[in-house]
Amino acid sequence: MTQLTANSDPTLSNNTTSHSPTSLNSFAPRLLNWFAENGRHDLPWQQHQTDTPNPYIVWLSEVMLQQTQVTTVLPYFARFMASFPTVQDLAAAEWDTVAEHWAGLGYYARARNLHKGAKQLVEVIDETGNFPQTLAGWEAISGIGPSTAGAIMAMGLHHYGVICDGNVKRVITRWAAIDGDITKSATTKELWALAERLTPTKNSGLFAQAIMDMGATLCTRSKPACLLCPLKEDCLAHSQGRETDYPVKAKKQPKPSKFSNALLVKDASGNILWLQRPDNGIWGGLWSLPLQFIEKIEGKANGSTEKKIDASDNKPSDVPHDVRSNEKVYEAEFTTAEQIINEWLIKNKLVAVPISKTLLDEAPIKHSLTHFHWYLTPQSVNLNTKQTAKITKALKAADININWLNADDAQATLGLPRAMVKILE
Ligand code: ADE
Repeated sequence: MTQLTANSDPTLSNNTTSHSPTSLNSFAPRLLNWFAENGRHDLPWQQHQTDTPNPYIVWLSEVMLQQTQVTTVLPYFARFMASFPTVQDLAAAEWDTVAEHWAGLGYYARARNLHKGAKQLVEVIDETGNFPQTLAGWEAISGIGPSTAGAIMAMGLHHYGVICDGNVKRVITRWAAIDGDITKSATTKELWALAERLTPTKNSGLFAQAIMDMGATLCTRSKPACLLCPLKEDCLAHSQGRETDYPVKAKKQPKPSKFSNALLVKDASGNILWLQRPDNGIWGGLWSLPLQFIEKIEGKANGSTEKKIDASDNKPSDVPHDVRSNEKVYEAEFTTAEQIINEWLIKNKLVAVPISKTLLDEAPIKHSLTHFHWYLTPQSVNLNTKQTAKITKALKAADININWLNADDAQATLGLPRAMVKILE
């Protein structure tokens, strides 16, 4: 195994932790020995066993792994690599193709940044002949923060790089019993200083891979396998039996709940109307059924202190009760395309009906996003040929990208968010 040098830079203080220099210096070798013996070495993006690492692979996988688990990422990563084997292939791809490859992985801003980032990287490569070679160079690419940039430097280029992602924060807040709120900038600073202190100057890529692997497999959120941990002898949280008290994170406000109808607007052949969502906002650039906002409940749904915003009372004046809205709510909650459809349905006295008379209208599909829970009730509206032509014309006149496709073709060819797949299923 490669020789390791602990980071013994005297300018880095030890004051973020009460651990002795011996403890601090032996952290990396202990972790690396564990990784060599027990870690995962067959993940398709790992670059620690090659002398010619590929930063594109590390970048792509790290973005996918930012909010998603390894098992979920694996098939997506394989499809991406098959379709876009190089950054040039990704940059040259159409957005719709990228969206279709990402569909279901969630947090879609990541996919938009990835596509934009690929174009930026190709520009850098065309200018300099290579991928960025510095931390600042990677941080300048869309969607790359300090930890992902550190991961690419260390694992994708085998240069020096430090990571401090969620896995690392969990491991080191436990090891050093750091009880500051990790959402606060003072704690973030403290954690970065400790991560730097612990990262060996040589083989920081191997160290990054090892600490992430340990965080993901041993030092897990709710049931850490402390008995197998190479750091248990001097883990301060373990010595107090308080592993799961770390990391400390301020309690989040409960998410609001939003209720909408999901309209299956069908033409005479049973094809469904699909809208490409605006680039900004939820599911930007992906394809969705037209949604009809009903109401939003702040705080916990069914809670006694809930506040209600609904779409009743105001504009447009002839909107039926459950989709009426004051102007602000209406504009914030309905995309332009949805406003056109909504108003056109009202004008033509077309009423959406529940898909089934059974449980569906009482039990909407629940889909949780970062900032709210979305309860979607599928409703169906059938159009004749003339009506289909009219609404198509109205949407095209407003420059809206639309498609009429049956459920199977939509799933096979459009980038659909997971919530839409749930509705079709
Ligand atoms: N989580 C984030 N990056 C990872 C990686 N490279 N390997 C395993 N889990 C990860």
